[in-house]
Amino acid sequence: MPQPPPKLLPPDPENPCVLVPLHQYPEFTLACATLLNMEWPRSQQARLNSLSSCSDNFPVGMVLVQSNSRQALGFCKVSLIPNLKDACFVESVIVHPQNRGEGLGSLLMKKLEEYVISRNLHIVYLSTLGQEKFYKKLGYNECEPVSLYSFGLRSISSGPKDSKTKNMETETCRTMIDRKIAEVNKEMKCLLTGPPPPPPPLPKQPIGHNVMSVKTYMKKELAKPWDSKD
Ligand SMILES: CC(C)(COP(=O)(O)OP(=O)(O)OC[C@H]1O[C@@H](n2cnc3c(N)ncnc32)[C@H](O)[C@@H]1OP(=O)(O)O)[C@@H](O)C(=O)NCCC(=O)NCCS
Repeated sequence: MPQPPPKLLPPDPENPCVLVPLHQYPEFTLACATLLNMEWPRSQQARLNSLSSCSDNFPVGMVLVQSNSRQALGFCKVSLIPNLKDACFVESVIVHPQNRGEGLGSLLMKKLEEYVISRNLHIVYLSTLGQEKFYKKLGYNECEPVSLYSFGLRSISSGPKDSKTKNMETETCRTMIDRKIAEVNKEMKCLLTGPPPPPPPLPKQPIGHNVMSVKTYMKKELAKPWDSKD
């Protein structure tokens, strides 16, 4: 049966910029893939696969659109954290390089928080390497790390793992999985064959290199509608 044509985003004179779920407006998928690849280069096809597997069931890709010109100005992705009922994890927050410093990043985050509340979630987690001040201004505070993936602890889900969603695992998530698998393999080997050979010496770090330069995890608790005093 032929598919109905995808819904196009209608112009909204009241709101020059709107944040909409990408899967509802696939017309912006290519623009989002290109935007993300400008900042975090990856194969365009992998990007498109990843974006096309977003859905209402999370992860949700949210695109910031200038409604008149129908231009994609920003993007972010929201995933659920299965063991944290009330919370979500936001990643891939990006504003088009030509539009940075115009308040769009803040607008994107504000609209994102409204969306998160509308989905009955009230805590936003994220991790960043270098944009701490940006998030701090928006009310995010440093917090304990939440794992994108873990055994039995908090984990960030990218929804059900079908063949499509495999492509969607973030780079960080993949690294963590690989690391864990390597650890388990190592332990198994130890059990079977005795202790492994000593590890090679660590590479020398250049002076001033901060070996602790890891991502900062940040968190914001959003006010619930019933918390409002007026
Ligand atoms: C981070 C990003 C989304 C911010 O978007 P933006 O549209 O430039 O942000 P805004 O214009 O809303 O800036 C809001 C405020 O944060 C400040 N700010 C923005 N980026 C900042 C940074 N890296 N360091 C310090 N302050 C920053 C702005 O000066 C502004 O301050 P003001 O309110 O006092 O004027 C954008 O720079 C971007 O896409 N960066 C590349 C991708 C990226 O690193 N994403 C974050 C992944 S964790």
